[in-house]
Amino acid sequence: MIDHPKARLAILISGRGSNLQVFIDACASGELEADIALVVSNKPDAAGLQRATRAGLATGCIDHRDYATREEFDQALVDALLPLQPDLVILAGFMRILTPVFIRPFYGRLLNIHPSLLPKYPGLNTHQRALDAGDGEAGVTVHFVTLELDGGPPVIQARVSVVAGDTAESLAERVINREHIIYPIAARWHLQGRLKLKDEGAYLDGDPIPPTGIQYHENLA
Ligand code: GAR
Repeated sequence: MIDHPKARLAILISGRGSNLQVFIDACASGELEADIALVVSNKPDAAGLQRATRAGLATGCIDHRDYATREEFDQALVDALLPLQPDLVILAGFMRILTPVFIRPFYGRLLNIHPSLLPKYPGLNTHQRALDAGDGEAGVTVHFVTLELDGGPPVIQARVSVVAGDTAESLAERVINREHIIYPIAARWHLQGRLKLKDEGAYLDGDPIPPTGIQYHENLA
C-alpha cells in the first residue's frame, strides 16, 4: 500500500486563537486530513500559543517589534515556514500587514479569514463600521491572500443578520461562530485540490467562484 503523507498546515496567529482551535480539533478528528506543522505568533503573549502547546504542536514567536521593517519581519516568517514545505498557510487572526516578501513564496496556498462581507470593510473595526453604516447584514469572508490588503479573491462567505440592539461585541460573537464553520471548509477544499487561485480569480472544482465568494449554507460539502 502506498503511504500518502498527510498534508501540512502552518498557522499564523496574533491573539486568542479560537480559529486555530477549530483547526486543531478538525485535524484531530480527521475532518481535515492534515497535520499542523507549526503555529507562529507575532505576539509572545498570544493566548493561541498556549492552545497550540496544550495540543502538543510546535510553536514559534516571531515578534514584529524585533524587526526594523515589515520586509525583514516577513523574511523571518518565510525562513521559519519554508523549510516545512506547508501545503497551506492559514492566517487565523494574524494582525500584521504582509508584504510581497511573504506573500510571493506562498501565493496560491495562503488563506485569510476577515470578519466582514468583503469587499465591504477591509481593515479594522469591521463590525462597528457595519453598524455605523446601518447594514442589515454582517458576516465573514475566507479569501486567498494576494498583494492587495484584504483584497484577494473571496472563497466562501457567511452572513448573519444585524438585530436591534446589536453592538460590535454581540455581532462579533455571532460572526465568530460562522468563522469556525467556514474556515475548515475552505481549507478542506484546498487540501483536496478542489480550490485554486488563478490569474483571473478563485476556482472551485474548475468553476470560477463569484466575486463575493460561495455563500455558506448548511448543505455545503
Ligand atoms: C477573528 O474574528 C478573525 O476573523 C479576525 O480576528 C479574529 C481572531 O480571532 N481577523 C482579522 O480581523 C484579520 N484582519 P481568533 O484569534 O479567536 O481566531
